[in-house]
Amino acid sequence: MTLSRRKFISLIGGGTVLAAGAASAAFLTTRTPHDARAPWSQAGTYEDPRKFALSYAILAPNAHNRQPWLVDLRTSDQVTVWRDTERDLPQTDPFHRQLVISLGCFLEQMRIAGAERDMDVTFDYFPQGEDGPAAIAHFAPGGTKDPLFAAMPDRRSCKEPFTEQTLSDSDVATLQDYAIIRTSDTDVADLKSLTWDAWLAETNYHPTMKESVDLMRFGKAEINANPDGIDLGGPFLESLMLAGVVSREAQLDPKSRGFQEGVRIYEEMLHATPAYAALTSMGNTRADQLDAGRAWVRLNLKTTQMGLALHPVSQALQEYEQMAPHYLTAHELLAKPGETVQMLGRVGYGPTIPKTPRWPLETRII
Ligand SMILES: Cc1cc2nc3c(=O)[nH]c(=O)nc-3n(C[C@H](O)[C@H](O)[C@H](O)COP(=O)(O)O)c2cc1C
Repeated sequence: MTLSRRKFISLIGGGTVLAAGAASAAFLTTRTPHDARAPWSQAGTYEDPRKFALSYAILAPNAHNRQPWLVDLRTSDQVTVWRDTERDLPQTDPFHRQLVISLGCFLEQMRIAGAERDMDVTFDYFPQGEDGPAAIAHFAPGGTKDPLFAAMPDRRSCKEPFTEQTLSDSDVATLQDYAIIRTSDTDVADLKSLTWDAWLAETNYHPTMKESVDLMRFGKAEINANPDGIDLGGPFLESLMLAGVVSREAQLDPKSRGFQEGVRIYEEMLHATPAYAALTSMGNTRADQLDAGRAWVRLNLKTTQMGLALHPVSQALQEYEQMAPHYLTAHELLAKPGETVQMLGRVGYGPTIPKTPRWPLETRII
């Protein structure tokens, strides 16, 4: 079978894989994992202000779509947020830095949504230290509505090639309030090389690649049964699964056509990038990581409102031995001495893409 590059969308790196193949409308309808996307339409349908806020919090961006959050609502006017340690990523995130950033994204969406219900949501971070809850959220009457709320249903991590359109000076000026923005030819070229080299390092190292492949959900039934991880769905990919081209085994075999086509598609996508956004912090405490997550989702909501696409590319920021040279380069390019680069992402103009799966809120309540 010949694979079309335009149709075969990357299988590696997290998030939705979008199938754009030709298929009958009826088949397309039957292949959509509606159940896995239901939490997006359930957001905002809760009376309790905490559940209202949480129904948006669970839509936050998060590493590998692990959704590493659990909440306890047993104390009134309070949400105790735990990191679900069963959702760890020991290979690509050995110190849980990205998972804590993900919890920061969750907290900020909770805060913004709480304000919509006239609630002032404030946080105590890790009040009992590293082994206790990641945060206690206090809900009190008040709060100021945040215009970023309106962007939540449309926010995505856009894992697609971007057009050649560059960011305007005024767009850059706006985004600089949210992140470090890099647009010069030299910076963009350096960051393209970095993200591509780092992606190859992760993909060609079996333990990290296997961690991703183990999180892949192949087709609608698997996606609905486990609405997290890396969802490979849609009629085109499902037909490739039936043909045996796309499978768990093929994704782990660098010699397979499916693997090699994924590499080519990722190369094209990572290079189709007109600008980058990054977040750094002077320390690298758990509080710094939560704050980085809160800042990242604000950037993502802002880019959504501006019609821009944002795509985290985290490989070079990961803390394992095989990544060390790229980690060093990332810090040379983006950080001042002593700083940690917490997030790096591609920014530009991208296509509209589907929502990613989520576990329903009810399954995340302890
Ligand atoms: C800390 C963090 C790291 C991420 N790293 C990557 C990455 O390296 N590559 C990627 O494609 N997506 C990355 N993402 C995006 C997630 O895959 C995405 O948020 C998740 O699949 C849910 O999709 P959504 O953001 O479109 O709702 C990252 C997100 C976060 C919060």
